[in-house]
Amino acid sequence: MTATVPADVERAFTETIERDQRVEPRDWMPDGYRKTMIRQIAQHAHSEIIGMQPEGAWITRAPSLRRKAILLAKVQDEAGHGLYLYSAAETLGADRGDLTRRLIEGRQKYSSIFNYPTLTFADVGVIGWLVDGAAICNQVPLCRSSYGPYARAMIRICKEESFHQRQGYELLMTMMGGTGAQRAMVQDAVDRWWWPSLMMFGPPDHDSPNSAQSMAWKIKRHSNDELRQRFVDMTVPQAEALGVTLPDPALRWNSERGHHDFGDIDWVEFKKVISGGGPMNAERIAHRRRADEDGAWVREAAAAHAAKKRGARS
Ligand SMILES: [Fe+2]
Ligand SMILES: [Fe+2]
Repeated sequence: MTATVPADVERAFTETIERDQRVEPRDWMPDGYRKTMIRQIAQHAHSEIIGMQPEGAWITRAPSLRRKAILLAKVQDEAGHGLYLYSAAETLGADRGDLTRRLIEGRQKYSSIFNYPTLTFADVGVIGWLVDGAAICNQVPLCRSSYGPYARAMIRICKEESFHQRQGYELLMTMMGGTGAQRAMVQDAVDRWWWPSLMMFGPPDHDSPNSAQSMAWKIKRHSNDELRQRFVDMTVPQAEALGVTLPDPALRWNSERGHHDFGDIDWVEFKKVISGGGPMNAERIAHRRRADEDGAWVREAAAAHAAKKRGARS
């Protein structure tokens, strides 16, 4: 198909990218760009939707009305992020029902981080602090991503993610000012979530096959390793202020590099979790499939109502 595209149309796309302007839904774009963009947006949308589950499990067990209200708002925000993103994917010609099927049939991935269990209420705080913190590092550069609808959705999403991070940190600060048992609960949650949070940035640069093309198309602005380093450098002083220890004996400031050095990530675990073998993968997908089945009658009723209205108009 690309062979039949007139040279000036292709040039217009290249120039849009070079000038840091946005590609819009009606513009011509290479098939590869469209496919990459749909895949990235869909995976991002799935992550937001699946990401509601680990914390959603604590809504009924939040220790106070205030904590429950905050957590409810946060989980609802994640649903909203999923909806903006599915809409952005639709502007590229993707079908939302098809994307959902790909997710529940295990044909499309979502962030590995949501396949770990939330064992205590401290996990809610640590997810806000570390997981939403890592999401911010990943997503702030995406506000300048070359695809217009995605970049614009990301601006609003990032504002909400910073609220999520603050609420997590504030929750942890409160717990760290509490009893010894509460402090131990926070430390335990940090121990379990630290390494999976570092994995959120994806495989190391030398093992990230799609990165170079995504950087050339300005879908991505920084490499996985650059963003991971930025996250570590941002988080270390926050951990100190909180009074928790990050579970990495190799973590130390390197004055020559002007960055923190850190230990090796267990990429075997990452690959296992991302390909379906994490502790919660089966449960997360089963839950999502159930929600889809339970909602089928709503979709059918909405479609029937729309058809009836169309009939009445004609
Ligand atoms: Fe989100
Ligand atoms: Fe969030």
